[in-house]
Amino acid sequence: MSEDTRPYRSVLYIPGSKQRALDKARSLPVDAIILDLEDAVTPEAKPAARKTLATALGEGGYGNRVQIVRINGLETPWWQDDIAALADSDLDAILLPKVNSPEDIQRLVDALASPVSVWAMLETPLGILNAQSIAAHPRTAGFVVGTNDLAKELNCRFRADRLPLLTALQTVLLAARAEGVIAIDGVYNQFKDVAGLQFECEQGRDLGFDGKSLIHPAQIDLANQVFAPSVSEIALAQRQIEAFKQASDAGQGVAVVDGTIVENLHVETAQRLLDQAQVIAEQAAIEQAGT
Ligand code: COA
Ligand code: MG
Repeated sequence: MSEDTRPYRSVLYIPGSKQRALDKARSLPVDAIILDLEDAVTPEAKPAARKTLATALGEGGYGNRVQIVRINGLETPWWQDDIAALADSDLDAILLPKVNSPEDIQRLVDALASPVSVWAMLETPLGILNAQSIAAHPRTAGFVVGTNDLAKELNCRFRADRLPLLTALQTVLLAARAEGVIAIDGVYNQFKDVAGLQFECEQGRDLGFDGKSLIHPAQIDLANQVFAPSVSEIALAQRQIEAFKQASDAGQGVAVVDGTIVENLHVETAQRLLDQAQVIAEQAAIEQAGT
């Protein structure tokens, strides 16, 4: 699967110390997993978690799911031991928390023995302000917004509409799109509140995020649904492409569908949506066949 079309609708954090959760992830319908050695693991539990995690990765069974490990931040005494413990593991990316600048990415890259991709948690004011130069580092492949840390640093209040975070979220998206990296929205803490999660997923999708980071399996289906093209969106995209083709054949540069103009750029968006829907359908078929 090409990196461009790979879906990242649901990105689940799994504490590296929790064997049951690591096992369960092999059967959960998530697009990506973040195996966590940072905040979900206490300082005392970190040495054991590194071993548990390396063993789980060695055993495999995570299929198509993108495998990302979140190590501890560069300001801690733990990150070097984290990467040493994972040196032989099969990973798609390493996620570095509290990235403030491209120099932070470089510091990690210098310490890595393999050419594995690096993802950055953007969760500090400086990290958000430097989002573009962090995204431009050649090893940066993805962003995850750390909305809990960011809210703490900003001293802003929780609001259901996330108004206090919107500037930061959009800055992250501008940087990600300018430099072509994946952008994953922050977590929704109240994991039993379905309506609240739905609102945040739809808001994140409408802003332009590729998917949502999640903390509990109960959040997966909703994120997968919200971040995938809907049946009506697919039908509209097909009609737009067809109408534009007919208009082009008739020598017109613009078509009209449902009273709305369709230009070349809309056709590109429609085609991207259809490609994404196809990849998701193919992935679902592979998983269906495997169960
Ligand atoms: N990934 C994979 N499996 C998970 C999971 C996760 N993040 N969270 C829960 N599960 C599993 C549990 O192991 C349990 O599995 P079982 O049926 O085999 O026993 C099942 O899902 C139901 O879990 P539940 O009892 O509802 O949750 P809990 O009370 O055990 O845990 C949390 C609740 C919030 C503590 C837990 O979901 C968690 O640790 N989430 C991740 C937090 C995290 O990573 N934070 C850092 C980033 S913000
Ligand atoms: Mg954080």
